[in-house]
Amino acid sequence: MRATVHRVAPRARSCDSDRSMTPLKQVWDREVVGRLLDHGMSGVDPLRAELLRDVRGRVVEIGFGTGANLPFYPDAVSELVAVEPSVGLAERARPRLEAWGRPHRVVSASASRPLPLDARSFDAAVVTFVLCSVNDVKAVLGEVARLLAPGAPLFLAEHVAAPRGALRQVQKTIRPAWSALLGGCDPARDTRARLDENGWDTSTLRDVALELPYPVRPGLVGTTRLAARSSA
Ligand SMILES: C[S@@+](CC[C@H](N)C(=O)[O-])C[C@H]1O[C@@H](n2cnc3c(N)ncnc32)[C@H](O)[C@@H]1O
Repeated sequence: MRATVHRVAPRARSCDSDRSMTPLKQVWDREVVGRLLDHGMSGVDPLRAELLRDVRGRVVEIGFGTGANLPFYPDAVSELVAVEPSVGLAERARPRLEAWGRPHRVVSASASRPLPLDARSFDAAVVTFVLCSVNDVKAVLGEVARLLAPGAPLFLAEHVAAPRGALRQVQKTIRPAWSALLGGCDPARDTRARLDENGWDTSTLRDVALELPYPVRPGLVGTTRLAARSSA
């Protein structure tokens, strides 16, 4: 089957962290944020490989960024729908996606509002290092839940709030500057609590130390399902 790229027009307010979508913002995202993501996050590549090795079927990845997960998708992934609201990051990802050679589609929209994708139409969802920079976590998790087939898994990796102590204080102190510089990224987000509140079974997620800079070293990684659907 030939790979296809289909882009959905960006909406006026298409990204929690990229509301303006000005040409300057696009260039900033492509050249600055994109480079930071490509070079600054290579330490988590082994974690990506481990997390994604059992992904299969028709997959939706929310917050595709520059496509850092692409090399780690196993052959069992038959189709990928990449949701990415930042035009600049999507531009940077495009050649990688085309070289990937399997059926794919880019949806240029925020997942905090309904995406133009059918409910229950995906075998798996992937969210890595995204929930830290999303304003409306509940809405994004609700959209992931809508898209997944009953019982289908969400593969997740996030940096999260440190439980307590000095690092927690550091995260809170640097939060405003960190967030302003890095696209709204909150170093002190309690993502396990947000998942619990929204009906995901977090008992399957591991707390890990990420190979990332000190303030964002605490991580949450694994496969989760909606608790009400976790019969499998
Ligand atoms: C730190 S980057 C991570 C990129 C990629 N997932 C990775 O693992 O390298 C965060 C990504 O989340 C995207 N993002 C932010 N808000 C979003 C939203 N509401 N819906 C979908 N993606 C969003 C950003 O545009 C960016 O691509």
